[in-house]
Amino acid sequence: MRLVETADGSFTLLSDRYNESYHSVKEGALRETLEKHVRPAFTYATIGESVRILDICFGLGYNSLCAIAVFGGKIEIIAPEMDRELIASLPNLPYPKMFDRLRPVIQKLSDDLYYEDERVSVKIALGDAAKLTQTMPGEFDVIFQDPFSYNKNPELWSARFFTDLYRLLKPTGVLTTYSASHKARTAMANVGFLLHTHPFTPNGGLRKGTIASKRALELPSV
Ligand SMILES: C[S@@+](CC[C@H](N)C(=O)[O-])C[C@H]1O[C@@H](n2cnc3c(N)ncnc32)[C@H](O)[C@@H]1O
Repeated sequence: MRLVETADGSFTLLSDRYNESYHSVKEGALRETLEKHVRPAFTYATIGESVRILDICFGLGYNSLCAIAVFGGKIEIIAPEMDRELIASLPNLPYPKMFDRLRPVIQKLSDDLYYEDERVSVKIALGDAAKLTQTMPGEFDVIFQDPFSYNKNPELWSARFFTDLYRLLKPTGVLTTYSASHKARTAMANVGFLLHTHPFTPNGGLRKGTIASKRALELPSV
């Protein structure tokens, strides 16, 4: 595992096992998190005073931490992740300034795989996300779909897996992903998701991902 500085100055890791970075190095780890996951999720899901989030997969925790940082209401996050060693190493990472006040959350998750206070509840579910989601109860307002790419993590881009994510998403919820891969989109569409792209301008410097939902959104459809 190697630490890499990304385009916006935030840091990510490069996985030796998957030969892939945890975030887009060209677009920036924090920028990718905000623009492709957190901002669209909180813009297009119907969210009241509380939110339930399924974060696939926790990794460095950027998606979960960013959601906690921007949302002021009650927040419950369940985040499957298979790599216990990675979670143990998180307190040593140079996170963006925006996460400074969340250092106690990072430390507690690293030690115990859960964190709870009066507003925030986060549980890292250790294990294979494809198996864990088969028996997971309840429904979520937001699903961050953020495994490695299709070729590296095929089990987490299959129609089998998306069947569970579809069941786990509220009718008013959204699933966000950086991926615009044809195979991934076909698998999502085959289980019933409606697919949309980000409203990024062509020169915004970001590649469009996919925003999936159970109802049509006011966004360009795929
Ligand atoms: C692209 S990274 C996730 C980045 C993360 N969302 C973040 O914000 O930092 C992919 C993560 O998926 C985990 N992973 C890969 N296959 C998995 C599986 N089948 N079940 C659970 N976690 C898995 C890897 O250990 C890695 O941490």
